[in-house]
Amino acid sequence: MALDVSELKKMAAEEAVELYVKDGMTVGLGTGSTARYAIDAIGRLVSEDGYHLKCVATSEQSAEQARRLGLEVLELADVKGIDVTIDGADEVDPSMNLIKGLGGALLREKIVAAATLTEVIIVDDSKLVDVLGSKVSLPVEVVRFGHEHTAYALKRQGCTPVLRMKDGAPFVTDTGNYIYDCAFGPIERPYFLETAIDSIPGVVENGLFLNRVEEVLVAGSEGSVYRFSERRHRSRPDSCTSSRTPFGPDVHNVSSFYRTSV
Ligand code: 5RP
Repeated sequence: MALDVSELKKMAAEEAVELYVKDGMTVGLGTGSTARYAIDAIGRLVSEDGYHLKCVATSEQSAEQARRLGLEVLELADVKGIDVTIDGADEVDPSMNLIKGLGGALLREKIVAAATLTEVIIVDDSKLVDVLGSKVSLPVEVVRFGHEHTAYALKRQGCTPVLRMKDGAPFVTDTGNYIYDCAFGPIERPYFLETAIDSIPGVVENGLFLNRVEEVLVAGSEGSVYRFSERRHRSRPDSCTSSRTPFGPDVHNVSSFYRTSV
């Protein structure tokens, strides 16, 4: 019998925590319904197994959950770097590039990912796509000042930008900005689009996570968890500055990936 999507999210989350979180680590906490299960499991490592962990949260919502579970939640400025971050995603392509931000935390998620040695993404298999943008709109976080003009510039990149609303008013991120959900359809040249979007005045961050992930754990509807891994090694960041290579055009998307059981 096929498992429901919540069970799949929980399976991927618990597997990731078991595989990647070790005693003494600094751990980044993702945001969303899948990351929530990971935070629960991390809480159990501390309350039941006596682990000593430091945590950095990608949203106020995740920070609150973590504190309720007795986890030590620190500011990013108070840690040297993050050993592992476990986070969800809205779409994952075969090269482990992502769209994130349907939960509204893309800015902090990207900053935390940049300070992280091993970024682990947990998803159910409904999030896998051949081409990013096939299923979901691309969230773009913008400053409130002049946001209508920023939206017009986004539209000129070939999308339909829709201001995200909550309870009848614009949704405001933890950092005090708005989000436009930009329906581009399939994004054939994600690095090119990222550069174009980031060059628009008023754009704070976009939901494309390109070349930012070391592992993706996927819970399949048949009830098993498998992973995409990238043959790439990074050194531990000394500070919160990304150690990743800056990317230009799409031709850089050449790392080798393989699927393995966990
Ligand atoms: C929040 C995110 C989430 O990780 C993403 O939206 C996935 O959420 P869920 O696990 O609830 O499907 O990017 O900004």
